[in-house]
Amino acid sequence: MNMINEINYPEQQYGNYTDTENTIWALLYKRQMDSISAVASPHFSNGLSLLGFTSASIPDFKQVNKHLHQATGWTIYAVPGLIPNDIFFHRMASKSFGATCWLRKMEQLDYLEEPDMFHDVFGHVPLLADPVISKFLEALAGVAINYLDNEMVIEYIARLYWYTIEFGLIKEGGQLKIYGAGILSSIGETKFCLSTDANPIPFDVNQILQTPYIKDSFQQQYFVLDSIHQLEGAVEELKKYIDQSIH
Ligand SMILES: [Fe+2]
Repeated sequence: MNMINEINYPEQQYGNYTDTENTIWALLYKRQMDSISAVASPHFSNGLSLLGFTSASIPDFKQVNKHLHQATGWTIYAVPGLIPNDIFFHRMASKSFGATCWLRKMEQLDYLEEPDMFHDVFGHVPLLADPVISKFLEALAGVAINYLDNEMVIEYIARLYWYTIEFGLIKEGGQLKIYGAGILSSIGETKFCLSTDANPIPFDVNQILQTPYIKDSFQQQYFVLDSIHQLEGAVEELKKYIDQSIH
């Protein structure tokens, strides 16, 4: 635990962003907003406006944290890329989310192998401003820190995270809306997941826990919430499933 608190990743150097990087942010932001404005769930778009994100400039983590902390008590910290599970989950259980602060290059606008700040900040951080989603994440991380040495349980947790936080859909006002960060930060998957080629199915924790996920193509199914409040019981269902599978 001490080691985890002692690791300090370099902070965002806000003054170092170039004009080109701000232009790339503006391009990604405007293009994505055009494609999601009618289809993003308010659980995402309310967070986006609350945090004051705009196309005009790359978000400054210090400013983001002021608004975010006020909304739900969460903060974000800069990370260089993917970080070890123990640090990721321990900090998440304390309402702190690691986000990259580097941005893709102009020639990578459409596809990136590793998450950059357009995915982490534009896609994920608005969800942390939502009371139900942020509580769900905190509870999920609270389970994860008890099973860091259990690969199977960490895989279950990753599946639940994947099919909600990354690729979740939700029914709102009779229409399918998107709240998953992996979709909302991807112009291709935003279109695909609502197309007739996609396979939306009802949210079901047990089914999610039995469904491996794929990283390098569009999802083969999207689990659809009827209400955001379904997330409130999801971690309890996960705990039951874990108990049954390890005992
Ligand atoms: Fe992500």
